[in-house]
Amino acid sequence: MKISVSKSIDNFKGLVLIPFFESEESIQMPEAFGGRPVPKVLFSAKKDSQHIFSEGEITFALFGLGKERNYKSIQTSFRRLTAKQADLFGQKVLLFAPDFGDYDLLEAALTGLILGTYRLGHFKSSTAPTVDWGKVQLAIHSTLKGTKNVIERAEKIADAQVKTMTLVDLPPNKVTPEYLAEWAKESGKKLGMEVKVLGRSKAEKEKLHAFLAVGQGSQREPQFIIMKYRHKNAKKHLGLVGKGVTFDTGGLNIKTQGMVHMKSDMAGAAAVLGFMHLVADLALEADVTAVIPCVENAVDSHSLLPSEVIDSYSGKTIEIIDTDAEGRLILADGLSYLIKNFKPDTVVDFATLTGSVIGTFGYECAGLFTKSESLSQDLQQAGAYVGEKLWPLPMWDSYQSEMDSEIADIKNFHGKPYAGAITAAKFLEFFTMEHNSWAHIDIAGTAFGDSEFSKTKHATAFGVQLMLKFIENL
Ligand code: BES
Ligand code: ZN
Ligand code: ZN
Repeated sequence: MKISVSKSIDNFKGLVLIPFFESEESIQMPEAFGGRPVPKVLFSAKKDSQHIFSEGEITFALFGLGKERNYKSIQTSFRRLTAKQADLFGQKVLLFAPDFGDYDLLEAALTGLILGTYRLGHFKSSTAPTVDWGKVQLAIHSTLKGTKNVIERAEKIADAQVKTMTLVDLPPNKVTPEYLAEWAKESGKKLGMEVKVLGRSKAEKEKLHAFLAVGQGSQREPQFIIMKYRHKNAKKHLGLVGKGVTFDTGGLNIKTQGMVHMKSDMAGAAAVLGFMHLVADLALEADVTAVIPCVENAVDSHSLLPSEVIDSYSGKTIEIIDTDAEGRLILADGLSYLIKNFKPDTVVDFATLTGSVIGTFGYECAGLFTKSESLSQDLQQAGAYVGEKLWPLPMWDSYQSEMDSEIADIKNFHGKPYAGAITAAKFLEFFTMEHNSWAHIDIAGTAFGDSEFSKTKHATAFGVQLMLKFIENL
């Protein structure tokens, strides 16, 4: 979609989209289009209501946004248009929103329109798309001074989100650890980030034992990705870790349920990759270092055995109770590697870590785990604004003893059918060297799921906008 600013609406032919918020006042067409009142029976601006009609060479589509002026609600309303009414865009389109009044709402609208063009049919051989989005021209008529900047920014945000969704939705024979490593290198090359990748032998030299243990049953070589974005005016250094399990069979503790969805077990990695891309694309004034351990958790004669004791980068030993609790193993090395070598001021990790967090929160919000009250608030606030909700669970030390091992320093599963998300977070904490500003975000329920936008489960890019808001508020 080519989006531009429209200075004048004279002589426009095509589709004019006019969004309305619901209010007590009666609805009128904009002065520029005659200013006639619109009878309430035809259109009331209720959320998702529409009134479409033609006058000469213009088709008007009035559509209702309801009363809520929040980011997510606006974004979703606009996303519906391109996702479900693509036919409307088979012509020139003018978004007539002179008094949207607010940069953020315009950004929400534009990101929504772009997100709605994303389709899941990556591998369909006969693609006869109803609309060629590359050719669609969208003009924005707005009185906001910085409209051009908003357009550019929205394009970059939505582009990062679509990239993240694509990585998650593509199948695991395509998105392998090496694919993610290549992706990171390309993004780094394009946008000026330093990217280093440790394959099996380099990771061995670096003593990333826990990371390698998870990947040892797979044909596909594990890749430990390190990305650095630096800005000369940076005042804060943020560190990120993303779980990149490109497929989780469970290992020898093989999954008996839901394995088919486990291509999404690299959604934490995808969110961090997409976010790094975005940070560099927007040239944000911050330093960000990302560590993204990528492996496939496969079944093979070389697979990790339950009851094995393994080493880790931190020097701490781990008793393997369950090979399906693999995410925490690669994150353990990711976190200690990041903190030891880069010493970021704040560390946040994203991981589709536990089924337990879905048991707790369903698909509504991600689990937030941190001992820092201020970090907790900042993350929650950022997430609430963009509609990527987080809710805290306790990190009390009384949970730590659940993870005690008789034979090693810690075990990877307490073996009990409760508090699974919390004990997983306590396991991670063990490898954070008591960093005073670390948060773990369990996105198992929010990164990949059902929605109105497709018939199958699909990626959401959860975390990308959240982290953008967070870093911009820092
Ligand atoms: N990748 C899964 C968690 C998951 C479950 C993500 C459902 C998305 C949807 C993780 O590696 C896992 O298998 N966790 C186990 C841990 C258990 C064996 C301690 C779980 O939550 O059941
Ligand atoms: Zn698992
Ligand atoms: Zn997993």
